[in-house]
Amino acid sequence: EDQRRESLMIVSSYAAKYFHETMLTTDEGQNIGLSYFKERGFNADTIKKFELGYSPDQWEAFTGEALKQGYQEEFLVTSGLSVKRDNGSLYDRYRGRVMFPIHSFTGRVIAFGGRTLKTDKAVPKYVNSPESEIYHKSNVLYGLYFAKKAIREQDNCYLVEGYADVLSVHQAGIENVVASSGTSLTSEQVRLIGRLTKNITILYDGDAAGIKASLRGLDLILEEGLNVKVVLFPDGHDPDSYVQKFGTAAFKKHVDDSKKDFILFKTDILLKEAGKDPIRRSEVIREIVESIAKIPDSIKASVFIKECSYILQIDERALLTELNKMRQAKA
Ligand code: CTP
Ligand code: MN
Ligand code: MN
Ligand code: MN
Ligand code: MN
Repeated sequence: EDQRRESLMIVSSYAAKYFHETMLTTDEGQNIGLSYFKERGFNADTIKKFELGYSPDQWEAFTGEALKQGYQEEFLVTSGLSVKRDNGSLYDRYRGRVMFPIHSFTGRVIAFGGRTLKTDKAVPKYVNSPESEIYHKSNVLYGLYFAKKAIREQDNCYLVEGYADVLSVHQAGIENVVASSGTSLTSEQVRLIGRLTKNITILYDGDAAGIKASLRGLDLILEEGLNVKVVLFPDGHDPDSYVQKFGTAAFKKHVDDSKKDFILFKTDILLKEAGKDPIRRSEVIREIVESIAKIPDSIKASVFIKECSYILQIDERALLTELNKMRQAKA
């Protein structure tokens, strides 16, 4: 069992090196992969640190080389690097994509995300590794290995959506950043962060999907007993595009200026949706109290009830009654 896991990690680490070297030393790698990353503003340090790479646009370039080097079919297939044809032969899962290796908490390569360079909407933008003994995506965070020291030091973790967001924010010197890439945030991922800090700041994309994911994420974080703040980006931007376009200082300023605690964030979003309709406004209040009811620490919860009462101009006792009802319903 452990031997199988070790073999899977060894072949994954070999693949990361293969994709990285291919990008840096072959014509195709340099002209297509490396120039893509450079155009996006990633520097040599970032490319090296995160072992970014490129997979040749051929059917068997990687698999052929790996087999020649003696890696076993079984591990190539289980790791998802190679795919088996009906006739039993193998082909490369990643072809003509830029490669983002995903590292475990201790820095071993356990999976990959591969981004297409095509703009064709029929081609999936990202192809990710399948689940395996070494890769359970629900308890992995992209960038965590490179972020954990800064997360402890800053006593805060920035949570972004994607690979590029992690890279750009990290490169800007803000190293306490991770992404729940390839899945929506899970409680296992929150608990993983919770071992390093109790404070999470959500920096999701400034589109409808990002707002929806933020609302869902904040409830999940509260439920795990952590503190959460949310920063929204202007529509059409994500942390990567924002920091690359406006620079580090502007990025930090945006984060500071528009950081909201979860009650302010949620009330803003929901009240905007509800408009002036009094019934819908009262539903908003219930939804916010529902979030507060998820907080395990009752002293913390009562502080948020106070804030809620102040922001929404509602009697604190009415909110407390509602909170207790929800708590009893849950118990
Ligand atoms: N994602 C995925 N599969 C997809 C689309 C997205 O796994 N087909 C994951 C990736 O981890 C991606 C993240 O969700 O990084 C966020 O998606 P999106 O915002 O669409 O991509 P970006 O990270 O912004 O990618 P880019 O800037 O390269 O376009
Ligand atoms: Mn397992
Ligand atoms: Mn998006
Ligand atoms: Mn992006
Ligand atoms: Mn994005």
